[in-house]
Amino acid sequence: MTINPVLIKSSFAALEPHGPEVAAYFYRHLFEHNPGVRSLFAEHLGEQQDRLWSALGALVTHLEDTETVVGLLQELGRRHAGYGALPAHFPAVGASLLAALRHFAGEEWTPETEASWTAVYGVVAETMGQALAETSG
Ligand code: HEM
Repeated sequence: MTINPVLIKSSFAALEPHGPEVAAYFYRHLFEHNPGVRSLFAEHLGEQQDRLWSALGALVTHLEDTETVVGLLQELGRRHAGYGALPAHFPAVGASLLAALRHFAGEEWTPETEASWTAVYGVVAETMGQALAETSG
């Protein structure tokens, strides 16, 4: 399945008013299913939740501008080397992100939307993971 930018943008627009709740749900889900990664994060997640949400917003905004998206993801991936993130964490993070988006999207969420977000996350994980692995050496 390839990425359908129209579906990504419309579902993200529907989620936009719930940004902080979606991000909070994402972290709750991630830590519940992967308690081992909790210690990588600061105790208070408030600011972190906002940053995650604006990073996703930037990706969606620039979705069709491959050069910009790849640049953003490579920078983000390099910074994650300093947070103790590992390429092996990406599937768990993707599962929690999809769970959070699905939970709040309501009727906007169709099998096509899910497939499209899965494809987006595949690009995110691949590009960030590669930059992370190169930085970690
Ligand atoms: C969709 C993929 C991801 C996105 C969009 C994302 C986004 C972000 C953003 C925007 C920040 C704030 C700092 C900065 O901009 O450099 C951050 C921090 C962080 N991320 Fe991610 N991230 C992703 C995947 C991951 C993965 C796979 C891990 C592995 C556990 C991870 C762990 C962390 C940690 C530990 C921090 C620092 C938090 C703190 O200082 O408390 N992230 N992430």
